[in-house]
Amino acid sequence: MRQPLVVGNWKMHGSRASVASLLDSLVAAQRLSGAEVAVCPSHVHIAQAVERCAGTQIAVGGQDCSHAEEGAYTGDVAAAMLADLGCRWVIVGHSERRQYYGESDALVAAKASAAVSVGLQPIICVGETRAQREANEAEAVVAAQIQGALQAQEDLAGLVIAYEPVWAIGTGLTASPEQAQQMHAYIRSLLEGIANVDAQTTRILYGGSVKPGNASELFAGEDIDGALVGGASLVADDFRAILECAARQR
Ligand code: 13P
Repeated sequence: MRQPLVVGNWKMHGSRASVASLLDSLVAAQRLSGAEVAVCPSHVHIAQAVERCAGTQIAVGGQDCSHAEEGAYTGDVAAAMLADLGCRWVIVGHSERRQYYGESDALVAAKASAAVSVGLQPIICVGETRAQREANEAEAVVAAQIQGALQAQEDLAGLVIAYEPVWAIGTGLTASPEQAQQMHAYIRSLLEGIANVDAQTTRILYGGSVKPGNASELFAGEDIDGALVGGASLVADDFRAILECAARQR
């Protein structure tokens, strides 16, 4: 019912040369069917990625976009610019943006809305910190983030949610399949209560130290519809192996 989706978030990594070789390896992969796949390079490598992925199954996305349509926002990239380059996706509300740039739920909501208005599919990230999980606040934090980002939206076409517990990002720690499935089911129950969202068809990705060795057990969760992959998406063989796990899940 929900096609698995695996998205590589390359964060602030890469050069023209390394992007070219990573894309060459991914494009050469034979067994990508069954799962939808996207890569999100840094903004400066998007045009290169779109050109290399043309005619392949690999879609391209941005890692962030401005809340504003256009104007005097030095350093920002408008959602329309990403769409114009050929992006299909854009990640918004990643925990690194929330943590280092103080992005609020209201700003995340405005970015998601800007994305949808130009036909991009937003991947809205949510997730609790370690202290919040230890204080038993994980569900409350995620609920506030989901409601803050989605509640007042008129159009959420193509929405994807990524649950990325902050304590699992880049740490080698992964939520157990049970922890992840429990939170994904909870997120789906929250989506049921939000207007303009079809909870049953909305894909909910897991992110946080996803590797070939743990992908299958994570994807076995009924409400886990794929992954948002950081570090392992920079290693072509690892990303391909994760894609294969997702494709087998269908
Ligand atoms: P890692 O896979 O490196 O833990 O990163 C996850 C992430 O932040 C993807 O957006």
